[in-house]
Amino acid sequence: MTTIFNNWDIVARGWYLVTTSKEIPKETVKSFDICGQRIAVLRGEDGKVRALDAHCPHMGTDLGIGSVDGNHVRCFFHHWAFDGDGQCQDIPCQDPIPAGATLQSYATEEKYGFIWIYPDSVAPTAVAEFDELKHHELAVVADRPLTRKCHHHICMINGIDVQHLQTVHHLPVDLELSLQQEGEQIDFTLSGEFLNTNWRERLGRAILGPRYAYSMRYAHGCLGLLTMMKAVRWIPQLYMLYAYRPTESGETFIQPIYVTKKRAGVIGWLVNHLLLWLTRLSYYALRGEDGMIYDNIRFSTERLLPVDAPIAHYVRYVNGLVPSRWSSPHPKSLSLGRGTLQASSKSPSPKSLSLISPSPRGEGAGLPPEHSRRR
Ligand code: FES
Ligand SMILES: [Fe+2]
Repeated sequence: MTTIFNNWDIVARGWYLVTTSKEIPKETVKSFDICGQRIAVLRGEDGKVRALDAHCPHMGTDLGIGSVDGNHVRCFFHHWAFDGDGQCQDIPCQDPIPAGATLQSYATEEKYGFIWIYPDSVAPTAVAEFDELKHHELAVVADRPLTRKCHHHICMINGIDVQHLQTVHHLPVDLELSLQQEGEQIDFTLSGEFLNTNWRERLGRAILGPRYAYSMRYAHGCLGLLTMMKAVRWIPQLYMLYAYRPTESGETFIQPIYVTKKRAGVIGWLVNHLLLWLTRLSYYALRGEDGMIYDNIRFSTERLLPVDAPIAHYVRYVNGLVPSRWSSPHPKSLSLGRGTLQASSKSPSPKSLSLISPSPRGEGAGLPPEHSRRR
């Protein structure tokens, strides 16, 4: 039995953040470890970014130490040259190109100031966007990336964990969930009335109005798009993204990115930066209150309550994603009584084991049946 949720052996299809666009200027190549793969990313003389498996099919040299020749990457060792489709186009010492002189190529996109890669040569969709910001030029600020010592599927749940908004963040709103799924993208919108029982709640109502809402859009289980300050007075909506990817050491790399619609002129510049700063402030306030949870959590979906329904939906959504070619060909899993312990190949300590229950009872919001489906 193999599930995708919280499973280090499966890399779901999706857009994974590589590096900033600035880090790969024209006619340069550099290799990166992305989701357990070594990937060479190059920018040709035409300004276009391309990505290939990094190890040369001749003798395995890392193409990241090679050079860019026109729009091809040329291997440092014997100077074979590869185009963006991974096909060898030139071998200096002979004319015929042998069969098998090819590399897997990957779709790339540049968005939000970063280079993104998809684990296949063609991507069926683009990097996710906010509906309200589509077709607008954006002002973008990237924050310092951080790491967490758990799988990114666990980190991503924080945004829809309704109980903890009150117990940890003291957000005085009674929230209701609505959700919409389209392919490998799912939108959770949580909205409700500010409570009205103490001075803090009354102050919130007086400033922001009686209602509050926010939404989390998850794309491919590796990108989160958060919209804050929906349905409130005075403050426009605030937008930020969280790009996630697993690291070689069994941790999660997280890149926070703040975005807003780009407004023109000096006043526009000031408004843009004020909103980006407010977004960062809101994020830091929330992150500071519960970031420590993720450093030694042993996540279980065994006893979810009805109030945890968004989390149950999320787990079902993740388990419906499609494994990519970057997944381990032999995912490890071992049956243990009524649950299944999934062992990570990257961090084999007991900390990396997560209990996945078949959950035959279907209690409360409990685990959806799809969670334990056979793949
Ligand atoms: S190892 Fe790359 S050309 Fe020989
Ligand atoms: Fe939180």
